[in-house]
Amino acid sequence: SPIKILAFAGSARVESFNKKLVKIAAAGAADAGAEVTLIDLLTYPMPLFNEDLEAKDGLPESVLQFKALLKSHQGLLLACPEYNGSITPLLKNAIDWASRPEPGEAPMALSCFKGKVAALLSASPGGLGGMRGLVHVRAILEGIGVLVIPEQKAISGAYQAFDDQGNLVDEKQVDAVRAIANKLATVTAKLSQ
Ligand code: FNR
Repeated sequence: SPIKILAFAGSARVESFNKKLVKIAAAGAADAGAEVTLIDLLTYPMPLFNEDLEAKDGLPESVLQFKALLKSHQGLLLACPEYNGSITPLLKNAIDWASRPEPGEAPMALSCFKGKVAALLSASPGGLGGMRGLVHVRAILEGIGVLVIPEQKAISGAYQAFDDQGNLVDEKQVDAVRAIANKLATVTAKLSQ
């Protein structure tokens, strides 16, 4: 059976460049034979993480759903905006919630991330395309047991790089993004044998 890749952007914005980017990459992963689930993180609205909330009510329903989704996929395809040189609060919040054990589960906080394979992309109006933020996302994911492939792509000058339909104008950039998606699908398949 084909390997499953969960794809999403670390942005809530309707017109998010990173949502456009992850969609392009998701199509590439599907063409490489993976079964891709493209989601919007806003579908799983999670409160700002607070251990008191967790102690009182356990994990919110949205977190349980998001964790179930993570568990049923072997690969992660992420397009991550850069805020002040780092990860967005939306993405960090989702990772922090999902890293927590469910009631009755062993207090082994890594369970739904461990053994996953991930590829990282970013897009930004700035000149570096968000690549400084990817350094942090990579470190966070590796710290919870995710193998993040070395290939990554940061799209700079996003207002010019994308057209009105959300496509990348430069075919070379499309190829680069699709090559990363392809590599993710290949590595994930090999490691899931
Ligand atoms: C930004 N932006 C930004 N861009 C960048 O390249 N480096 C940075 O450090 C920052 N810092 C930053 C902080 C905050 C709080 C905001 C709101 C924005 C700009 C950012 O790249 C831009 O808003 C993108 O369009 C966000 O990605 P999406 O939502 O288009 O995917």
